[in-house]
Amino acid sequence: MKIAIGNDHGGVQLKQALKTHLIAKGYEVLDLGTNSVASTDYPIYGQKVSEAVINQAADLGIALCGTGIGISIACNKVKGIRAALCHDVFSAQATREHNDSNVLCMGARVIGDGLACMIVDTWLDAIYQGGRYAQRVALLEKG
Ligand code: RB5
Repeated sequence: MKIAIGNDHGGVQLKQALKTHLIAKGYEVLDLGTNSVASTDYPIYGQKVSEAVINQAADLGIALCGTGIGISIACNKVKGIRAALCHDVFSAQATREHNDSNVLCMGARVIGDGLACMIVDTWLDAIYQGGRYAQRVALLEKG
């Protein structure tokens, strides 16, 4: 499975930790930047990650900024993206099972590397449940 990952300057260090973690677990990682701590704009990277998922350059995406909020808003501007901002494992599991989220967003200034890795593992391992959740997900796409 290929995971697209992108971030602004606030997420560089967490991105490196997540990349190491994901590669060790056998995932392919598509790093869409930034890899610089110079100030940049989170919408650029939210869009890159989202487009990689929509264009099927990656199966799922992870997007990071300082809070995770800005980049999650940016990701959700892209049609077909269901980006979920998660800072706990319950939400990470629920959003895959219920929302079929295709991008996971986190804030590097909010949580540590260890929790972020657990959240990623939980999100990737969870399975969309479909059924009654499918009609709600379909309504999201109607806009
Ligand atoms: C950048 O300083 C910061 O605003 C950004 O990383 C993010 O937290 C925005 O939501």
